[in-house]
Amino acid sequence: MTATTLTRDPRQPARISSRLGDILAQRGIAPDTAAQEPAPEPVTTLERAEARIPARFRHALANHPQVTAWADAIARAGRPGPGGAPGIAEGPSLRIVGPTGTGKTHQAYGAIRALLAAGVRLRWEAVTAADLYARLRPRPGFDSERDLQSLMRCPLLLLDDLGAAKTSEWTEELTYRLINHRYEHLRPTLITTNLTTRHLRQVLGDRVASRLAEMTERVILEGEDRRRRKPVV
Ligand SMILES: Nc1ncnc2c1ncn2[C@@H]1O[C@H](COP(=O)(O)OP(=O)(O)O)[C@@H](O)[C@H]1O
Ligand SMILES: [Mg+2]
Repeated sequence: MTATTLTRDPRQPARISSRLGDILAQRGIAPDTAAQEPAPEPVTTLERAEARIPARFRHALANHPQVTAWADAIARAGRPGPGGAPGIAEGPSLRIVGPTGTGKTHQAYGAIRALLAAGVRLRWEAVTAADLYARLRPRPGFDSERDLQSLMRCPLLLLDDLGAAKTSEWTEELTYRLINHRYEHLRPTLITTNLTTRHLRQVLGDRVASRLAEMTERVILEGEDRRRRKPVV
């Protein structure tokens, strides 16, 4: 059997560029001018990381003192990784609680942005509880266990709107496994919820509520629904 090496015919690019030169000449364009495209702007790591943040929260600034203090503490606790930048370490978690529209998700993405801006080498995932349950729904040909394991192990997880989705024994068990793993391994987790501690216990069960009580610092957001605020004239 003969091994085939995939190489480009070296004459091919020369032929193409000479043909291109002819076409440009016919149109009165000097080939050099056409080649001078503006250099692409370099994309920074921060910009690449921020591209994963939903557009609405791409410029979110965490301005709640507990949230900024948490981001500072996590950034300080980071150990230097292979590239020298600090990686995210074990640490505390936050539970951002408040009625709809008070800025919970904004504060959570603001915290992620603060860590990225501080240069923390950050592998993070964000998912709403409702999307999580839809995404992990058992179905043929999909390894939901693998997906769950990656969320359990992710160095930083934002679990948005916990307790807002329809629940069942299955969602309770899944939430328990996710939270328990992160609880046991002290993995920083940002949780947002509309539910008070008592309601969380009713909706998610006492095993989850009890772990959340220990592993998270509670941040309470108050005020009116920012989405329904009258614009200032
Ligand atoms: N601190 C803030 N500064 C400016 N806009 C904010 C702030 N907090 C929230 N918002 C805006 O208010 C709206 C509701 O915020 P959001 O975080 O989605 O609320 P929640 O998650 O509590 O339902 C969004 O449009 C968001 O961009
Ligand atoms: Mg929200």
